[in-house]
Amino acid sequence: MTDVATPGDAPPIVIIGGKGGVGKTTVAAATALTLADAGRRTLVLSTDPAHSLGDALASRLADRPKRVAPRLWAAEPDADAAVRARVGQVTDDAYAALPRKIMPAVQRHLETASNAPGMTESALNDVFIEYLERVPRDWDHLVVDSAPTGHLLRMLELPALLTPWVRGLARQRERAVDADRFATGVLGTADEADDPLLARLHARRRRLEGAADRLRTEATVHLVVLARHMVLAESARAATSLTSAGFVLGDAVLNQSPSESDSTWHELAREQLGVPGVVELAAADSEPIGPERLRALGVALTEGGFPRGDHRTSTTNR
Ligand SMILES: Nc1ncnc2c1ncn2[C@@H]1O[C@H](COP(=O)(O)OP(=O)(O)O)[C@@H](O)[C@H]1O
Ligand SMILES: [Mg+2]
Repeated sequence: MTDVATPGDAPPIVIIGGKGGVGKTTVAAATALTLADAGRRTLVLSTDPAHSLGDALASRLADRPKRVAPRLWAAEPDADAAVRARVGQVTDDAYAALPRKIMPAVQRHLETASNAPGMTESALNDVFIEYLERVPRDWDHLVVDSAPTGHLLRMLELPALLTPWVRGLARQRERAVDADRFATGVLGTADEADDPLLARLHARRRRLEGAADRLRTEATVHLVVLARHMVLAESARAATSLTSAGFVLGDAVLNQSPSESDSTWHELAREQLGVPGVVELAAADSEPIGPERLRALGVALTEGGFPRGDHRTSTTNR
C-alpha cells in the first residue's frame, strides 16, 4: 500500500451532506474506500431512504454491514424495519413511565406518527447512532452517505431533541416510584437501583446524551456542492444551521469542478459555506461506478487533504 495517498487526520465520523444529486453518495463511497485502502477499518452507511450506495459500489447491499473490499463494510439499513424498531422503543419507554390507562391513546398516536413525514429519516438516524456507538470498537471510521440537506440537520439534532422526552419520562417514573415508596413507608427518593424500568430510561437518556455529544466532538460534516448558485445558496443555509447547532464543518467538496484556471467558484464556495477549505473534484470521464473508478476519485480527494476536519479534538487520538 506504499503508493496510496493517506487520508490525513480524518475524524472518526465523516458525514457527507449536500443537495440532491450533487455527488454525496459518490464522495462517501470514494472516501470510505480510500480510508480502507489506507488500513483503517471503515463502515460506509447510507441514511438516505432512497439508497444508492450499492449502485455506486456496484454491490448488492442489505440492512446489515456487508464486506465489500478489504477493511471496508457497507450497509443500506432497512427503513421500514428502522421505523418499527423506533416505534417499539418509544412505546416501551412510554410503558415504563406513563399510567397504563393512557397507553391506548399513546399507541394510537404512535401509529399515526410512524406514517408522518420525516419519520423514516429519523428512524434511520437511530440506526446511525447504533453504529456510531461501535466506533472505534468495530470500525475506525464511520462514513455516512446522508439524505439531502433538509433532513441532515434534523437527523443530527435528533438525539439532543429526544433527550428531554426521555428525561421527562424518567421523571414521571420517579414520581410513580416515590409515591409507591411513600405508601409503603420507605423514606427518600427513588433511584435506578430501586426500579429496573427507571434504570432503563436513564440508560437510554445517557445513550442519547452520549450520541449528541459525540456528534459534536467526533464528527465532521462535509458538504458536497456543484458550481451552481442554487446549490451554493441551499448549502450555505445548511452550513449556517449546522454550525449554530454546534456541528463541526470540515472541508467541502466542489464536485465536477470547472476548469483549473478558474478559482472563482472555489473562493465563492469557501466564503459562502464558511468552511475551513474546499477540495475540488473534476468530472470523471465515465460515471464513477464500482471500486476501481471510485478509487481514482478517492485518491484525488485524498491528495486535496480530504476528509480533513477543522476539529477541536481531531488531533487527540489520530
Ligand atoms: N466527479 C464526478 N464525475 C462524474 N460523475 C459523477 C461525479 N460525481 C458524481 N457523479 C455522478 O453524478 C450522479 C449523481 O451522483 P450521486 O453521488 O448519486 O449524488 P447524490 O448522492 O448527491 O444524489 C451519479 O450518476 C454519479 O455517478
Ligand atoms: Mg445519494
